[in-house]
Amino acid sequence: MIQERAGLDRIIERWHGESTALLQILREAQEIDGWLPPATVTYLAQALDLPRARVEGVAGFYSFLHLQPAGRYRVLFSDNITDRMAGNLELLEMFCTSLWLERGKGSEDGLVLADTTSCTGMCDQGPAVLVNGWAIPRMTAARVEQIVELIRAGAPVEQWPAELFHIEDNIHRRDILLGSTLEAGAAIRAALSRTLPDSTIPAAQQGALATLEAIKESNLRGRGGAGFLTGLKWEACRNAAGHTHYVVCNADEGEPGTFKDRVLLNSHADLVLEGMTVCAHVVGAQQGYIYLRGEYRHLLAPLQEVLARRRAAGLLGTGICGQAGFDFDIEIHLGAGAYVCGEESALIESLEGKRGVPRNRPPYPVTHGYLQQPTVVNNVETFCAAALIALHGDAWYRGIGTARSAGSKILSVSGDCARPGIYEYPFGVTVEQVLEDCGAKRTQAVQISGPSGVCIDSAEFGRRIAFEDLPTAGAFMVFDEARDIFDVALNFTHFFAHESCGFCTPCRVGTTLLCNVIDKIDRGKGSQHDINQVFRLSRLLQASSHCGLGHTACNPLLDSIKRFRPTYERRLESLEYEPAFDLDGALERARAMTGRDDAGAHLGVTDEQ
Ligand SMILES: Cc1cc2nc3c(=O)[nH]c(=O)nc-3n(C[C@H](O)[C@H](O)[C@H](O)COP(=O)(O)O)c2cc1C
Ligand code: SF4
Repeated sequence: MIQERAGLDRIIERWHGESTALLQILREAQEIDGWLPPATVTYLAQALDLPRARVEGVAGFYSFLHLQPAGRYRVLFSDNITDRMAGNLELLEMFCTSLWLERGKGSEDGLVLADTTSCTGMCDQGPAVLVNGWAIPRMTAARVEQIVELIRAGAPVEQWPAELFHIEDNIHRRDILLGSTLEAGAAIRAALSRTLPDSTIPAAQQGALATLEAIKESNLRGRGGAGFLTGLKWEACRNAAGHTHYVVCNADEGEPGTFKDRVLLNSHADLVLEGMTVCAHVVGAQQGYIYLRGEYRHLLAPLQEVLARRRAAGLLGTGICGQAGFDFDIEIHLGAGAYVCGEESALIESLEGKRGVPRNRPPYPVTHGYLQQPTVVNNVETFCAAALIALHGDAWYRGIGTARSAGSKILSVSGDCARPGIYEYPFGVTVEQVLEDCGAKRTQAVQISGPSGVCIDSAEFGRRIAFEDLPTAGAFMVFDEARDIFDVALNFTHFFAHESCGFCTPCRVGTTLLCNVIDKIDRGKGSQHDINQVFRLSRLLQASSHCGLGHTACNPLLDSIKRFRPTYERRLESLEYEPAFDLDGALERARAMTGRDDAGAHLGVTDEQ
């Protein structure tokens, strides 16, 4: 234990003993034993001067943190629908059989645990696994055998062959963003020297305001899904009262089927950091954070190197680009396996070292964000676009895309196509065009923007990727005629139930009830009543969930019922009423999760309705 304490002390010291870094400290502490033993939790609570229950509560929230022994090797198979289509479950079964494992249970000798995990953002090169947090793409039977042998030999993951961990960018179409060859610092210098027409402010001080004007005039809208106007967000933050302003890059990228931020951070990190630095100049921030999803741990060290290079070049730190008083630096925090932490207020909670539970809004992060101070949270791609606007100007940017959707959009294309990967287009491109470019044949459906987005059928392939038609955070999952869209809805519905943070009753219970309904239909025991039940639950989830996860959890079911109804009708046993689920059983699970005994009372939903 003395040795372990020294290890824990070093971790705490590295994070300056700050409780806001609790999640980071827990992540690193877990690397000592592969889990967080009670003594470790107690020690960290004392050292950070936090209630033990708080430390345990945080550790219990994140799926990559373990309060029980979890094995020296933790092997998690990505379980997005595209992984399923590529045979992930067969490979998982093969892995378990080879090592005499039961899925989800650690081996008796404490060596290995195998299970599934939500989409790991490798859909262009799946099926993928995470081994102790490190991503291995392109799994095959041969790779399973190789990993089994490495585990049997007790080889530390750090010493496994490097080619296992090789991740491709798979960029197939570049436009203004992926095609840019920005010289590091160019966008910052352009922002600093930008001037306002007819202004009485000394020219040297006009940069921040002039850049803000350019971002506003460009009509840049956020690329994380909601499409909020970036200029308005930056302006609100700049004008908000507060002793410190913050810039946060949302690199959580948890939406299944989305992986474009992974590529941007891998190959265009300077552009991302440049955009964050330009934003800091505009809003007056001195500290920035990148919230990087735990699944992208492999990007941490390369990103740290880029940060170090930029500090050495005077592009981060004090007096950036020689401008006295322009001080800004960036720290990276890793997530730990919680989709809801992509929601900006949950992300901020997580950055503060807490459970990633979405906050009540308003107030919004622009006035009360990180540590209750004014904070801009933007998606990775949004910061890249902002850097380009600072460099080339708003008129140039407005000239690309459509009247209501300026600029370009990066799509993460996966599923049934010859060339999955990254495609950048000016806004306005048709779905048909993307399908042709990626080599999709006999396409039945495309899931736009992930499970929380929309599933369209072939009659709609003339529609356009644009805020005014098909808005998207980036996912573009292709399903050909051989697929059963019911399986897609089934996978996505379970995804939402798994990722519900459990904070509010409608979502916590409603997503479980949705799973019960679709599982029952899957077993061939469904009836018309169950379809009606989906509509009732949908109204409830949309009206009374606390955050976007609950609001969109019904989308996969609603879309597929609307557009692919025969796949349901084929499965329905009868059009008569049958009890849809074991309500008490469903609620029991919710009660166990939350320690509450009134789950369902607020729902107002019963099986009989
Ligand atoms: C459940 C949920 C998950 C989200 N995940 C992400 C994410 O992974 N990345 C992201 O940029 N935005 C995500 N968002 C949207 C963010 O809340 C926020 O709108 C976005 O980061 C703002 O940046 P933007 O204006 O540049 O789009 C998510 C929202 C919800 C409700
Ligand atoms: S809607 Fe779901 S994910 Fe969002 S706060 Fe409520 S329980 Fe959590």
